[in-house]
Amino acid sequence: MVRLRHIVGGLLLCLACTIAVSIFFAFSLLNPTQSCLFPSVTKGKIRYNSDWGSHQLALIVPFRDRFEELLVFAPYMQNFLNEQKIKHKIFIINQVDQHRFNRASLINVGHLQSREECDYLAMHDIDLLPLNPALNYSYPEGGPFHIASPDLHPRYHYRTFVGGILLLTREDFELVNGLSNKYWGWGLEDDELYARMKKAKLNISRPKDINTGQKNTFKHIHDTKKRKRDTARLYNQREATRWRDHQTGLNTVQYRVVSKHKLMIDEASMTVINVELICNYTVTPWCDHKSVKSSKHRR
Ligand SMILES: *[C@@H]1O[C@H](CO)[C@@H](O)[C@H](O)[C@H]1NC(C)=O
Ligand SMILES: *[C@@H]1O[C@H](CO)[C@@H](O)[C@H](O)[C@H]1NC(C)=O
Ligand SMILES: *[C@@H]1O[C@H](CO)[C@@H](O)[C@H](O)[C@H]1NC(C)=O
Repeated sequence: MVRLRHIVGGLLLCLACTIAVSIFFAFSLLNPTQSCLFPSVTKGKIRYNSDWGSHQLALIVPFRDRFEELLVFAPYMQNFLNEQKIKHKIFIINQVDQHRFNRASLINVGHLQSREECDYLAMHDIDLLPLNPALNYSYPEGGPFHIASPDLHPRYHYRTFVGGILLLTREDFELVNGLSNKYWGWGLEDDELYARMKKAKLNISRPKDINTGQKNTFKHIHDTKKRKRDTARLYNQREATRWRDHQTGLNTVQYRVVSKHKLMIDEASMTVINVELICNYTVTPWCDHKSVKSSKHRR
C-alpha cells in the first residue's frame, strides 16, 4: 500500500516535471532574445522569419557615455529593422579606456567581433534615427550604401560625405582594410574612409526616390551644448590626418575586450562590448588629452 502510493506519487511528479520542461522549452523557442534566429518580435507580435532571407546585419554603434540616447536608439532601431524584415544584431562598442574617443577604431573592433555571425554591417551613429521607412537597410549587393546621404542628412551636405549611417558587406569592409586608426577625437575619419572606398573602386550608392528631405528624413538627437565635440588637434594631428592613411586599418587595430554583456532595453536585445583601445604613441601621439598624457605617459 505504502509502496503503491509512492509509485503513484512518483508518476505524478514525473508528469508535472515533463509538462514544466515542455512549457519552458516552448517559451524559450519563442523568446526573441535567445538568438539571431528569432529576433522577430514587434510590439508583442511574433513573426516567423523564414522569408527574411539569409543575410544578417551587424548594427555597429561606437559608444561612450550616451546611455540616455541608447535607451531611445535600441528599441527604435530594432522595431525599424523588424518592420523591414532585416535579420540583425545590435553591437554597442563601448570605449572604456582613458584615450580620446576613436569612432573608427571602435567600428573596426565591432566588425572583428561580429564577422562570424553577420555578413554585412551598418556603422551607425547613435544620435541619428531613420524616420522614413523607405530607407533600405537590406544587404548592399551593389557596393557601399550610404543611408545618411548628404541630400537627406540634417547637417552635412558635402558631396563626398559618407558618415552617419553607412552599410557595407563584410567583404567590402575587409577589402578597404576597414577604417584608419589615427582619428582620436571628433571628425574626419569618414572622409578618409571615402578615399579608401574610391581607391578600391567601390560603387557608393545612396537612397533614391525618397519623399522626405533634410528636415524630416532623420531625427538627429544630438545636443551639442550638452556634449561638446572633441575637436582639439594636438601635436601634428591636423597635418597627419588630412591624407589617406596607408599605414593603419582593420589589420592593425589594437584593443582588448574587457567584457561582453547581453543587454535588453524594452524589447530590444543587444550585445555591449567593453573595449580598451591601445594607442601606439609613435604613430599617434595625439590619442590622449594633454592632461592625461602628462600624468600617465610622460616621455
Ligand atoms: C529593400 O531592397 C530590397 C532589395 O532590392 C527589396 O527587396 C526590399 O523590398 C526593399 N525594402 C524596402 C523597405 O524598401
Ligand atoms: C561599379 O559600377 C560600374 C557601372 O555600373 C560597373 O561597371 C563596375 O563593375 C562596378 N564596380 C564594382 C566594384 O562593383
Ligand atoms: C607602433 O608603430 C610603429 C610604426 O608602425 C611600429 O614600428 C611599432 O612596432 C608599433 N609599436 C607597437 C607597440 O605596436
